[in-house]
Amino acid sequence: APKVTIQTIGKLHREDQPISVVTAYDYPTGCAADSSGVDIVLVGDSLAMVALGYKDTTEITLDEMIHHCKAVARGVQRAWLVADLPFGSYNASTEQAIHSSVRMVKEGRAEAVKLEGGKRLAPRINAIVHDAGIPVVGHIGLTPQSAVALGGFRVQGRSLDDAKRLIDDAFALQDAGCSIIVLEAIPPPVAETITRLLAVPTIGIGAGPLTSGQVLVISDMMGMFDRFTPKFCKQYLNMGQQLERELARYTGEVRGRKFPELGTHTYSMSAVVEDEWS
Ligand code: KIV
Ligand code: NA
Repeated sequence: APKVTIQTIGKLHREDQPISVVTAYDYPTGCAADSSGVDIVLVGDSLAMVALGYKDTTEITLDEMIHHCKAVARGVQRAWLVADLPFGSYNASTEQAIHSSVRMVKEGRAEAVKLEGGKRLAPRINAIVHDAGIPVVGHIGLTPQSAVALGGFRVQGRSLDDAKRLIDDAFALQDAGCSIIVLEAIPPPVAETITRLLAVPTIGIGAGPLTSGQVLVISDMMGMFDRFTPKFCKQYLNMGQQLERELARYTGEVRGRKFPELGTHTYSMSAVVEDEWS
């Protein structure tokens, strides 16, 4: 299948074809996502929680994100590869934002970076896109990196004022040069309005069916993270439970000397030596 580019995404959007996005955190999840046919693979900073066990996403460093992005990139040949800039790697200044974005592309091998926030990030996004030439994906609504300031992980844009602020933010991000905007945990009518008003595609998570595309966290959808599962997540598989069951079976077989099986899982000596050995 041909390489997905920003042009491919634009074409899908123009033809009103939903864009499919999933997160990946390492080489095997990158390979699986890529060969499954998703359009965009996102190395989300959700990896802090679901793959590294941190309490929230503010703990992960740029170096750690780059380390994981490199691994995902080795497995992704076809999909468009986007990586999150983690908390603290773009908040200080425009120079810092450009420096971090360049590292994510140069070292991490990402094709675009994603960052969280509305209007106030517009100058920074503008610099990353137009000075560094790196495509940027925006992210508004529930922005986990600032969950403390938002008062926790909660739906955004429920009041008229909040909904209007989200629309303003979306326009500011589009004007600053964002290629795509992620809408997280906002009521479907607000997401639909933003999607209808904008020229760039929106990718929803907990934003209803009428965004330009959808994204899910692979660990949530595959049942690999059980600290909590958001309302908006659909669980396709209970991999965690399956993994645990099969590992218990393995341990039982080791203890019962049922594994390994001679012949099936073992090597033979050369015929001559084998005779002398026994
Ligand atoms: O970190 C992440 O996985 C994300 C997606 C949920 C959009 O930002
Ligand atoms: Na993220």
